Amino acid sequence: MDAPVVAVLSLKGGVGKTTVTLGLASAAMQEGRRVLVVDLDPQGNATAGLNLSDVPTFTTSDVLYDGRTGVALDAVVATGWGPLIDAIAAERALEHRAVPSGADPVRRLQRALRGAADRYDLILLDCPPSLGELTRNALFAADQAIVVTEPTYFAVQGAQQAVEAVEVARREGNVGLHVVAIVPNRARVRLSEHRYRLQELQGVFGATVTEAIPERTAIQQAQGAGVPIHAWRSTGARSAALAFEDLLGRVADVSAREHRRLHGPGPAVT
Ligand SMILES: Nc1ncnc2c1ncn2[C@@H]1O[C@H](COP(=O)(O)OP(=O)(O)OP(=O)(O)O)[C@@H](O)[C@H]1O
Ligand SMILES: [Mg+2]
Repeated sequence: MDAPVVAVLSLKGGVGKTTVTLGLASAAMQEGRRVLVVDLDPQGNATAGLNLSDVPTFTTSDVLYDGRTGVALDAVVATGWGPLIDAIAAERALEHRAVPSGADPVRRLQRALRGAADRYDLILLDCPPSLGELTRNALFAADQAIVVTEPTYFAVQGAQQAVEAVEVARREGNVGLHVVAIVPNRARVRLSEHRYRLQELQGVFGATVTEAIPERTAIQQAQGAGVPIHAWRSTGARSAALAFEDLLGRVADVSAREHRRLHGPGPAVT
């Protein structure tokens, strides 16, 4: 079965896209799954959090510049997280890829990633903080989208715009793409303002809104140390890890359903 390709996006910066990407990679690794993390943000935060084993020769910038079918696999590098987690690194020069160029510019990543889904169980695309060309490339390469938001006043509006960007990619030809989760991050449920905003999100987007990822210092500590949240020993780390496991369950669930829709039910499991 082809690995699900999941774009993690938001309209706003700093809401937790990279945190959700790394948290999902950590949860998948815990289950023994092979993951490819593609860093599409010139800031390179996912690249840093994965503690690469070597300085990469090729980056997502080179991959998008080259754009040949399957070329992304040449840019795969090992990470300090271990053999299950690989990455395609970002670099600052990726900013120059943020403008359309060449033929069919939004499909460059999709073409370049061809073949990758056979080699991994999950492919995660960490998007930059805008709905520009790099995020659009992710939305044409992905079959699932996760929208990250914070439980604040602008959350509904921001999530709405990210969901619309997904809609546009679907209308323009990536017909299988859908939003599997709208994830409220950095929630402090003791704050009545946060509780109110979480309910507001659920009121607008219904069951697509997942359980919130809690605000935990352990998340920042694990990222700073370049290790998976599942390897960090603290109560905060454990509760964050559980939230990412739940979220991963949603991704896997949807991809299994989608697989059945496309290929029919598999042999009965008894
Ligand atoms: N649930 C959380 N608890 C504590 N800290 C968090 C949480 N989520 C994110 N952070 C911290 O907030 C900062 C921003 O998070 P992150 O880098 O994941 O956001 P982003 O959306 O990827 O940002 P950008 O738009 O710049 O790519 C980071 O320092 C991260 O460690
Ligand atoms: Mg980020």
